[in-house]
Amino acid sequence: MILIKIGAMADLHFGPDSLKTYSSLFKSAGAEADIIILCGDLTMRGLVEEARGLVEAMGIADVPIVSVLGNHDHEANNQEEIMDVLEDAGVKVLERGSFIMPDRSVGVCGTKGFCGGFAPARIAPFGERILKMFINETYKEANKVNRSLKSMKAGFKVVAYHYAPVRDTCIGERCEIIPFLGSSILSDPVDTFRADLVLHGHSHNGSEKGSTLKGVPVRNVALHIHDRHYCIYDTGSFSPSASEASK
Ligand SMILES: [Fe+2]
Ligand SMILES: [Fe+2]
Repeated sequence: MILIKIGAMADLHFGPDSLKTYSSLFKSAGAEADIIILCGDLTMRGLVEEARGLVEAMGIADVPIVSVLGNHDHEANNQEEIMDVLEDAGVKVLERGSFIMPDRSVGVCGTKGFCGGFAPARIAPFGERILKMFINETYKEANKVNRSLKSMKAGFKVVAYHYAPVRDTCIGERCEIIPFLGSSILSDPVDTFRADLVLHGHSHNGSEKGSTLKGVPVRNVALHIHDRHYCIYDTGSFSPSASEASK
């Protein structure tokens, strides 16, 4: 098995004063990792100029950069243009297709995801039309990952979301907002097709480590819980048969 170092971060919230900070962060992440995965909230207010600033900070990366968007990137309804800016700069936007390393050592798929809470207390599609529309958005997002994982052929499969697929990595947040931080619906395709690792953000005050019901490791890479630093995960440290449920 080829060992790959994954650099991951989320919740960059790029704004007017972010260029210097993120230029050095991307430079150091690019030197340390074999691939960089961004888990959304790239921009502060969803402005196209913020996305342009972010790709300027990325510079000319020597390693592949892949990304999903976050809720902040949807704030101004510019998400398609933001994805165009990212793609023009060479970033692989997972909402528009999966990424496989040329040697097939690592495959990454993903999407923003959405919320709705966690089993056994997650929202069900029952009752008012507006509630069904709300939770159907989460099912729609999970289905995108379902389709991608089903056909993915790679040695190590990573799923990137912005929203959390498990409650574990939201521990630390006020309990009232936890149902808005993610949904266990997002973990269903991960367990069905046995992905090797799930990365996400959005839970700024949550915890780093968790796992799905079937033991797939989940990592919250929000910069806020990592002293504003990216995370490095070595694919060799996640055994395909390891269950973190018992850890
Ligand atoms: Fe965020
Ligand atoms: Fe967010």
